[in-house]
Amino acid sequence: MMVKGILDYAHELLKNSVEHGDIVVDATCGNGHDTVFLSRLTGPEGKVYAFDVQQQAIQNTKQSLADAACHNVTLIHDSHAHASAYLPDKEIGGAIFNLGYLPRSDKSVVTRGSSTTEALTTLLSRMGKGKMTVLVVYHGHQGGREEKEAVLEYLEQLDQQTYTVLQYAFINQKNDPPFIVAVQKK
Ligand SMILES: C[S@@+](CC[C@H](N)C(=O)[O-])C[C@H]1O[C@@H](n2cnc3c(N)ncnc32)[C@H](O)[C@@H]1O
Repeated sequence: MMVKGILDYAHELLKNSVEHGDIVVDATCGNGHDTVFLSRLTGPEGKVYAFDVQQQAIQNTKQSLADAACHNVTLIHDSHAHASAYLPDKEIGGAIFNLGYLPRSDKSVVTRGSSTTEALTTLLSRMGKGKMTVLVVYHGHQGGREEKEAVLEYLEQLDQQTYTVLQYAFINQKNDPPFIVAVQKK
């Protein structure tokens, strides 16, 4: 068996979390790759809520969804920190965060530790048993180290009776490679 790369492994975790009909969240939709993936996992009876603070990302994701004929997504042009204002009062079947900046775009618009951890508090409190929130942590850019530290500090203090927290990383790669942290509700 070949060890899975970061993005493949993130999707593998989501496949094990999300079932048809679930309500799921893409906290950073960007170009919409994960949004399309989640949309297919949860199927027509399910629902994806996808957030991004950049109009360009919302536009790109809208196009990706149209190309993939996905019709079960609500796009939200706002910070994931405000997720509780948009999500229904129901259990969540899975969520993904791809931290950092939108590729080939304004590198000054990046995710930040304070808003990421605020969003995590909302999403983890609504996550169903056995379900997972997956974060792909890019941290080589300006502000990335601070966000990485804030996210790890937040996740390390989660109660082990309630959550399993996994870290998946290639520790011999150069140039600040991305890694995964995933939280499963017990
Ligand atoms: C690495 S990109 C996401 C890539 C995306 N998952 C894809 O498949 O293309 C990170 C995204 O997070 C967005 N972002 C930054 N801060 C945010 C926030 N507070 N809430 C929601 N999105 C945010 C950026 O605008 C950017 O599009």
